[in-house]
Amino acid sequence: MLVAGSTAFDTLARVERFPTEEEAMKADEIASGAGGCGANVARGLARLGHEPRLLSAVGADFADSSAKQALEGDGVDLGRLVRVEDEPTAAAMMATDDTLQQTIIYDEGATPRMRELEPIEAELGHFAPGEVTAYPELMAAVDRVVYDPGQEVFYRPTEEVMAPLDEVDVLVVNEHEAEQLAPAVGGLETLADELEGLVVTHQGGQHVYQSGDRVELDAVEADVVDPTGAGDAHCAGLVHGLAEGWQLPEACRFGSVVAACAIESVGAQRGLPTRDEAQARLPGAKKT
Ligand SMILES: Nc1ncnc2c1ncn2[C@@H]1O[C@H](COP(=O)(O)OP(=O)(O)OP(=O)(O)O)[C@@H](O)[C@H]1O
Ligand SMILES: [Mg+2]
Repeated sequence: MLVAGSTAFDTLARVERFPTEEEAMKADEIASGAGGCGANVARGLARLGHEPRLLSAVGADFADSSAKQALEGDGVDLGRLVRVEDEPTAAAMMATDDTLQQTIIYDEGATPRMRELEPIEAELGHFAPGEVTAYPELMAAVDRVVYDPGQEVFYRPTEEVMAPLDEVDVLVVNEHEAEQLAPAVGGLETLADELEGLVVTHQGGQHVYQSGDRVELDAVEADVVDPTGAGDAHCAGLVHGLAEGWQLPEACRFGSVVAACAIESVGAQRGLPTRDEAQARLPGAKKT
């Protein structure tokens, strides 16, 4: 199994409200954490018992980082990372306010160097936000492809983001990304018809389009501490389900459990559950 996407160092602040221009704002807390969409999904899958290979690009500052230790410690294969000497690892600063809105400032750092990655054959691969121009070639070596273009939908021309579509089996987007893409792809139903499955997430759940049907799933109730990484955690659970041979809606339901666990801790990776922890929170699971 492989996961492609960014690796980053996150700085996370909790504020009552966002500062206005030239205002300094006191945070309830500022924490650092491991992040990057590719690393988040890979770590999520490792916590669930897999040994995913991470396809990403990092700077020299990654070698001694706790982010690296955490990924390795949980069993992510870092053997194929592009290690860049002249750029730092990507970094992001995110502030979350009391209504759980987020603002993010980031430096993509080494991430564009994902273009130096060689394709690797795999049965199942997840492609998270990162250097998406490298994805058509990387995806061509993978039998079953899940693609979450995430924020790239807003930063890049739609043609660039959708260039890998022929290689994609399951496309995952949030509702805002879906809205942005819909006009360019002739509407979501048309897009779904070209795919094995289309998953549109929102804070309250997800719409799962498959074979002309649309299934609605509710989110799993959570005591939200920090929404960072909800989407990545959801994808980790979804890809786990596909690896287990489950139907897409069942895999998506598992994704919503993994997401619920992730958002109950500060940072994208700290709350990622083990397989047993996630199973225990599946709706209908017996309490142990
Ligand atoms: N407040 C919440 N409570 C419970 N579950 C949530 C909440 N927010 C998100 N989730 C779960 O996570 C999934 C993905 O959430 P969302 O649509 O917000 O992702 P996203 O916008 O891609 O997130 P990210 O910014 O992390 O990429 C949802 O389908 C839901 O299952
Ligand atoms: Mg997302």
